[in-house]
Amino acid sequence: MLLAAAAVFIGSQLCRHCHAEVFDAYARTPMARSSGRVESVPAAQFTAAGHRYQITDRTLQFDGGSSSIDYFIGSNAAGRTYLRERDGYLFELPVTWYAQKQAWDASPGYEKDGEVRLTRAVEPSCLQCHASRVRPVRGTQNRYGDPPFLENGVSCERCHGPGSEHASDPAKSRMVNPAKLDAERRDAVCSQCHLTGEARIERTGRTFAEYRAGDRLSDVATYFVSKLGRRDLKVTSHVEKLAGSACKTAAGDKLWCGTCHEPHTNTDKTQQACLGCHAVAHRQQERCATCHMPRTRAVDANHGVMTDHSIPRTGRGGAAPDLKTLVPFLGTGDDRALGLAYAELGDRRAKEFLLRAEPRDWPVRLRLAVLEPDAARAAQLYESVLRDNPFEPVALVNLGTHLARLGRYTEAGQLWDRALLTNPALEEAVLNLAQIRSPKDARVLLSRYLELNPVSRKARAALAKLGQ
Ligand code: HEC
Ligand code: HEC
Ligand code: HEC
Ligand code: HEC
Ligand code: HEC
Ligand code: HEC
Ligand code: HEC
Repeated sequence: MLLAAAAVFIGSQLCRHCHAEVFDAYARTPMARSSGRVESVPAAQFTAAGHRYQITDRTLQFDGGSSSIDYFIGSNAAGRTYLRERDGYLFELPVTWYAQKQAWDASPGYEKDGEVRLTRAVEPSCLQCHASRVRPVRGTQNRYGDPPFLENGVSCERCHGPGSEHASDPAKSRMVNPAKLDAERRDAVCSQCHLTGEARIERTGRTFAEYRAGDRLSDVATYFVSKLGRRDLKVTSHVEKLAGSACKTAAGDKLWCGTCHEPHTNTDKTQQACLGCHAVAHRQQERCATCHMPRTRAVDANHGVMTDHSIPRTGRGGAAPDLKTLVPFLGTGDDRALGLAYAELGDRRAKEFLLRAEPRDWPVRLRLAVLEPDAARAAQLYESVLRDNPFEPVALVNLGTHLARLGRYTEAGQLWDRALLTNPALEEAVLNLAQIRSPKDARVLLSRYLELNPVSRKARAALAKLGQ
């Protein structure tokens, strides 16, 4: 079979010419509508995390400032988060619409913010699960082309691979059909977005963006989950839950997401699936999932599983997570991956693994630098990170601080300037620069930053200190 490996992405619209029925059905599903440009937002007035907000048209207003509302993430099946765009840089807004409670509230992670913050960078990984043909600008943390992605939501080609060759000669070049792949590659198609784990660590020199339908996910990244006890795993996403079910354990590769979900129509085939394997099951006339895949009621976070995919005998209570030991769920957990995963979770065990990591590539050196108590040694590590990745924002900011402490202000200033190109809302870089620049330049710098983040107390204080 000839797979369309050298092909490029062309977009779902072109598939429509020949697959109109699939296209029209799929266009109505939550996955197809998971992101896009905001056309309008209903007017609202509410309080979230102690701050008052008002929405009129496509503007979010709050005490001390306002922001346009430019893009959305989430079809509204569970909720919708909004993004703002400034000079191509994308930031997540602090408020989210929660469909289940039909109310606005703080975006996940913003619940405890003392001040309204508009500067959380939207990194490519977020868009890669919710949009298609994403266009990150190299050397930046959160800048994108205009538009930032060429297709809203999850496109056909995310599950079928790039289609240029197939579209020009369907008989000669076939698309990837997940159902015809071996189990590992088939499952990867859904897992690329539906598997989160406690941490997912890209392999040396690989990025999630390179994954194509038909690939093995473990070639791109290692996924870790927490081991709580001898047998218990703390699992969060649908993929891990299903993997832990008695059905999956016993039935093996036969059972996968596609057994119960028809992705083109979002049809739920669960009842026929249960009966297909449990021919002599009790309560044949009742909906099996009601008792065996119960839904949790309160869902506050975006990414909480609502329907219990561990298919329990009865609703069993989950053990409370405590001290976590990471174990690989997908891929092999070598020292490098484990070290990076622990570091991501802020776990002290990171260092021992990082010190043994092979290869010691820049992500490893960056984590080691952050953990390094000796300033001079940390600086050396940051320098070596920047040789491989000249736009690593943490290295730029922290190496700058180190050099400034040694009185090397010109070099420090250059590093901070470069940091602000990767993301103009790095507050530390702004505040640091303001201290070493002339009062006139500092004023310009702080005012520009306050346009991005109007209520920053630190920036306001720094500006006030400069006087008129
Ligand atoms: C010019 C018409 C045409 C266009 C455009 C087109 N297809 Fe197809 N597609 C076909 C035909 C014809 C077949 C059946 C080929 C066969 O069975 O030999 C097919 C088969 C498929 C299959 C089944 C493959 C299999 O082996 O089971 C998939 C999946 C598919 N197309 C996806 C797409 C996607 C996604 C796009 C857009 C990127 C697309 N097609 C664009 C004509 C087209
Ligand atoms: C490119 C990322 C991506 C891929 C690939 C993907 N999904 Fe999704 N899926 C999502 C996102 C994002 C949502 C949430 C959509 C929303 O409501 O905004 C979602 C939602 C869903 C839902 C819930 C729909 C509802 O009614 O709320 C199901 C079921 C689902 N996906 C199944 C699958 C299956 C099965 C596969 C593999 C064949 C798959 N997905 C592949 C990203 C993906
Ligand atoms: C690894 C892939 C992945 C990443 C990264 C990711 N999401 Fe999701 N997101 C999903 C999937 C899959 C769903 C739907 C199913 C679920 O709840 O797991 C979802 C659901 C959502 C929903 C609810 C959508 C709805 O209406 O059902 C929102 C809102 C959301 N995500 C926002 C975000 C934002 C904002 C980011 C980045 C800051 C982000 N997500 C990062 C995969 C991802
Ligand atoms: C979330 C993943 C996903 C997305 C998005 C998706 N498909 Fe599919 N598609 C599948 C899976 C899984 C199968 C295999 C279904 C089966 O045989 O059980 C499939 C099968 C097909 C087939 C062959 C069999 C059939 O059902 O006709 C065609 C053609 C096809 N898809 C076209 C498309 C087109 C066109 C789009 C976009 C409009 C699209 N798909 C979007 C997952 C997806
Ligand atoms: C692909 C086949 C398959 C599908 C689909 C499937 N199961 Fe199972 N299930 C099994 C097998 C095999 C076992 C283990 C042997 C047994 O207990 O019958 C099992 C076990 C179970 C158990 C016992 C769990 C335990 O902890 O002992 C329950 C309950 C169950 N299934 C319910 C369901 C329900 C409800 C559905 C639909 C939502 C479903 N299954 C779908 C194959 C399947
Ligand atoms: C045994 C059947 C079954 C299998 C297998 C299955 N699901 Fe589901 N899934 C369900 C049911 C039932 C629901 C709830 C549907 C509803 O209430 O409308 C659901 C809901 C969902 C949702 C919506 C959010 C939620 O939690 O309610 C997502 C996303 C989802 N499934 C993803 C997946 C993915 C990814 C896989 C593969 C790892 C998978 N499912 C495998 C039966 C299944
Ligand atoms: C009203 C709730 C309810 C419904 C609906 C329901 N079940 Fe059950 N089921 C249970 C309970 C409770 C048990 C555990 C009984 C026990 O442990 O003795 C169970 C046990 C099972 C078992 C394990 C049996 C065994 O002997 O190990 C299977 C398999 C199963 N159910 C399948 C199904 C299927 C398939 C459906 C849908 C046709 C279904 N159930 C509908 C409540 C329900």
